[in-house]
Amino acid sequence: MAATTPDERATASERPWLDTGLDLEQRVELLLAELTLPELVGQLHQIVNADPVADRELLRSGAVGSTLTASGATAGTVRDDGVQRRHLDECRAVAAQSRLGIPLLVARDVIHGHRTVYPIPLGLAATWDEPLAEACAERAAAEAAADGIDWVFAPMIDLVDDARWGRVAESLGESAALTGRMGAALVRGTQSTGRVAACAKHFVGYGLSRGGRDYATVSVGMTTLQNHHLRPFRAAVDAGCLTVMAAFSDVDGVPMHAHRALLRGVLKEDWGFDGVVVADWNGIGELVEHGVASDLRDAARQAIEAGVDVDMVSGAYAAHLVELVESGEVDPSLVEDAARRVLRLKFRLGLFEARASEEAAGAGALGLDRELARAASSSSFVLLANDGVLPLDESSSVHLTGPFAHEGEALLGTWTLDGDPADVVSPASALGARLGEPHETWHGERLRVTDGRFADLAAVASRETEVTIALVGEHPRRSGEDSSVSDLGLPAGQLETLRQLAAVSQRLVAVVFTGRPLALGPVLEIADAVVLAWHPGIEAGPALIDVLYGDAQPAGRLPMALPRSTGHVPITSAERPSGRPLPSDRDGGRGRYVDAPSAALRELGEGFGYTTFAFGPVRASADELRLDGSVRLTVSVENTGSRPGRALVPLSVRDRVAEITRPLAELADWQTVDLAPGQSREVVFDVPASAFGYVGRDGTWRVEPGDVEVTIGDGTRDGATVPLRLV
Ligand code: NOJ
Repeated sequence: MAATTPDERATASERPWLDTGLDLEQRVELLLAELTLPELVGQLHQIVNADPVADRELLRSGAVGSTLTASGATAGTVRDDGVQRRHLDECRAVAAQSRLGIPLLVARDVIHGHRTVYPIPLGLAATWDEPLAEACAERAAAEAAADGIDWVFAPMIDLVDDARWGRVAESLGESAALTGRMGAALVRGTQSTGRVAACAKHFVGYGLSRGGRDYATVSVGMTTLQNHHLRPFRAAVDAGCLTVMAAFSDVDGVPMHAHRALLRGVLKEDWGFDGVVVADWNGIGELVEHGVASDLRDAARQAIEAGVDVDMVSGAYAAHLVELVESGEVDPSLVEDAARRVLRLKFRLGLFEARASEEAAGAGALGLDRELARAASSSSFVLLANDGVLPLDESSSVHLTGPFAHEGEALLGTWTLDGDPADVVSPASALGARLGEPHETWHGERLRVTDGRFADLAAVASRETEVTIALVGEHPRRSGEDSSVSDLGLPAGQLETLRQLAAVSQRLVAVVFTGRPLALGPVLEIADAVVLAWHPGIEAGPALIDVLYGDAQPAGRLPMALPRSTGHVPITSAERPSGRPLPSDRDGGRGRYVDAPSAALRELGEGFGYTTFAFGPVRASADELRLDGSVRLTVSVENTGSRPGRALVPLSVRDRVAEITRPLAELADWQTVDLAPGQSREVVFDVPASAFGYVGRDGTWRVEPGDVEVTIGDGTRDGATVPLRLV
């Protein structure tokens, strides 16, 4: 924050809420009592890119509570000039001159890193590594704070099952358990310094956008919402997440920005969430487009009643709330409660106190955390197939080809507002650092690099080298917000190129950079090895080379199922039984397609390392557990290969008879174990009876007596199942 102004130095007697000796709620109430109705509404008004000159009067009059720095409505797909710390400090200084000197809150989308860019969130989820995710979020928040940001709009914890939706890139995958735990880790990391607020978004159901089209309508029943989509939000709230963002979508006809039952009812009243609910961009204004509000005034009334505290850019609250209260149409206590939440957030973040001096220099002074970025990237890579070509032999000659060979920006991924493409170490330069100067010539060099523009040149290079590494996949502009696709195959031309390369290569390794699980069946048939590398961030090249040469293990495991074709989505590993299940085969009860197997190509949790693991039998401490008890399950896992590796040990549950259909196998817990060759370890899970609980037909939570199952194994489908009885 800027140097303190005379107003900020006002004594505790003039401004008693500045007394840090008081408890936080007292401070909030003391300040709240001072605010006039327009000032209360001002705290709820969020403007985009506040300007110390153009917005001077607004800021000075206390008419703005927060600002968002963004390029526009779909900021993740448009680059901006980066955040300007000095500019923000000037805005803060102007706000500090307002009557009560209430600090301005500054928000930005810091989604998977700030200056140091990590893998896209879906890639981070593929690590299944909570401490790693937490460390990335902590560093991102530190860099953002140094650039003057107090509030980041992350993590996105919408559950997804349709890879056509561009925003799966921002998600943590299909599983409520994985998303809940990784999301909580991101919340903890972001908020660890106490200076930056996280924002769990988008509450709720947005991942079900019909047809995978962004902003489309959502039809979902209440028990599915309760038992699935709300769970990660509950985990985020329990982890102390300070803010929640409402979703653009509706839930069964009620747009979330007007959904009183879910926002005010479930989130605030049932869960006791005392933080801030922020609208999404113009989400209040869009109630008019949804056709549930007659005009902006009506939209403002519905949103404040529903429990939306902060109006992001629509201006509905600023324009209408004062008058709505004065006319008696809106209960003043709703406005007061919303402002209380904003003030509480500002106190919680310490905005009323001077900022630590180490933050003064800006993120540039922190440098980049390349080591963390490299570890996060290599841990996110999922090895989908390997006939033994990987890890590569150091002595082999290599042809590296494809559009990503020399790339910077395209490897950062969607939503990298402050990442610098110049910071990305490309695959070509990382491989060059290892094998020596790359050449594009026709003969004899150990490393050839072609960018794929001339397929004929690439074919010659592949014929003359021992290994071809083909870098294929999608540009980040094809993923993220408002970037859905109707075809989950590789982008046009890439499969044909791979086929040609396969025809002339001795060995072909395909590396797929992508923001979504693509339908990679044909690639698995063509290539000798396939690495799913997501969009990895600034250390894309070194992390890839680490994994390809075996310096690092491909530790990533799928955070969402890989579909066989576009026609196979939506698809999830937590399928619920139908009345006509298929015979028990790997389709696991799915309805049949005439023209293809119905199961996913690869399920949640799948992925290979460079070694093999053997799981022993699962031992249960009892075959019955009480409704308030738990059972201990133990399994031994052994590294039976010749290289070290990380085993994912997932645990899934099934309730055999319930009031509503329950998933055939739903991930409930997992552990990862690092094992040296020949090493084995006992993995122990304590499973509480509540792991089998669910919200039933009447909307209430229950844990019921009856038969249940627990499955532990290598991938959620192939494990050993233990029957248990809840009594
Ligand atoms: C719209 C997106 O849906 C949301 O995720 C983002 O945080 C806001 N815009 C602000 O940029």
